[in-house]
Amino acid sequence: MAKVLSGAGLRGQVAGKTALSTVGKSGSGLTYRGYDVKDLANKCDFEEVAYLILKGTLPNASQLAEYKTLLKSMRDIPNALKDVLERIPKDAHPMDVLRTGCSMLGNLETEQDFADQDKITDRMLACFPSIICYWYRFTHDGVKIDVATDDDSIGGHFLHLLHGEKPSELHERVMHVSLILYAEHEFNASTFTARVCASTLSDMHSCITGAIGSLRGPLHGGANEAAMDMIQKFSDPEDAEQGMMGMLERKEKIMGFGHAIYSESDPRNEIIKGWSKKLSETVGDSNLYDVSVRCEAVMKREKGLFCNADFFHASAYNYMGIPTKLFTPIFVMSRLTGWAAHVMEQRADNRIIRPSAEYTGEDLRDVSDISER
Ligand code: COA
Repeated sequence: MAKVLSGAGLRGQVAGKTALSTVGKSGSGLTYRGYDVKDLANKCDFEEVAYLILKGTLPNASQLAEYKTLLKSMRDIPNALKDVLERIPKDAHPMDVLRTGCSMLGNLETEQDFADQDKITDRMLACFPSIICYWYRFTHDGVKIDVATDDDSIGGHFLHLLHGEKPSELHERVMHVSLILYAEHEFNASTFTARVCASTLSDMHSCITGAIGSLRGPLHGGANEAAMDMIQKFSDPEDAEQGMMGMLERKEKIMGFGHAIYSESDPRNEIIKGWSKKLSETVGDSNLYDVSVRCEAVMKREKGLFCNADFFHASAYNYMGIPTKLFTPIFVMSRLTGWAAHVMEQRADNRIIRPSAEYTGEDLRDVSDISER
């Protein structure tokens, strides 16, 4: 008889093998293919890390230049996809836009053969910022933007399309760091979704579309938006103190805190927190950062809970003028790397993922005639 797992949410269960990352096991707490995320965020561009996760090794200078050139050449999106994006309402959730955009791309550029998986992944990495910004600028600013920019990086491309001008060096660097921090995280909910889909031998676009749906929820990727909604309600750190105490008394869940695997801290927090501070100094207004620091202190003092990667991302993105509703799509632009690498890993050693369930329903019974019910 199959063993019934005791913990809810499959917590603590090993559900497969991966060579892509470790969470809570070594280094500062998160490693990608053996490298500490802290080192990667300090020394690398996001494209280097994407290359590492997808291909297994860090690129040398010429490989990186070649990879960036390839990604640059794939930024434009087909007119049929633009038509679809123009029809999606302004008040749609951008994660739904990205989910539809990814799915539509799968109709136009279908993965016919798994041998094309690298090309399909690079294409998505290159054009997801185009998809989200094309829709955003069309529905919010009434303009049909040219999405084929010549920016050096994926993060720079995104900020350029969003704001209509090339980003500062600082903002482009923060995007590199942010995308690196979000790129991969073992068997989290959205990655597991992608792997389950891959295990049926489905196509890459289906795996990624499903993963986007999982990431959308506030207990997963949506937490950075929820954190922003909260911190912007507080006028100053004192107000944050009182507001947080009230929320805790009412036993409300506070987004951007806690983690399913990390028990003492999330290694990504310290890194993005530092960049948020730097951005606040550049803007010359540290209130949002100070409010966030007070929220962190209250949660530590009252509940022993720590900020996860999402909490200081909220203020960092806000300082760069990114609208709150685009926070989670940025997560997608990054985590796409991890998802695709997991799909490739699953395909390389596949068996369909099909667990069993412990039945808690009725005993076997007869179907009575409809007139007797
Ligand atoms: N705010 C308030 N209380 C929290 C909390 C939060 N953000 N996160 C955890 N807790 C509390 C739980 O209520 C629980 O208390 P209890 O034992 O009295 O019921 C305890 O801490 C244990 O947490 P639990 O919810 O069991 O952890 P989990 O592993 O099931 O969930 C998260 C992990 C991430 C889903 C959870 O911490 C959470 O919902 N955080 C907010 C959403 C978020 O930021 N998600 C992004 C994750 S990167």
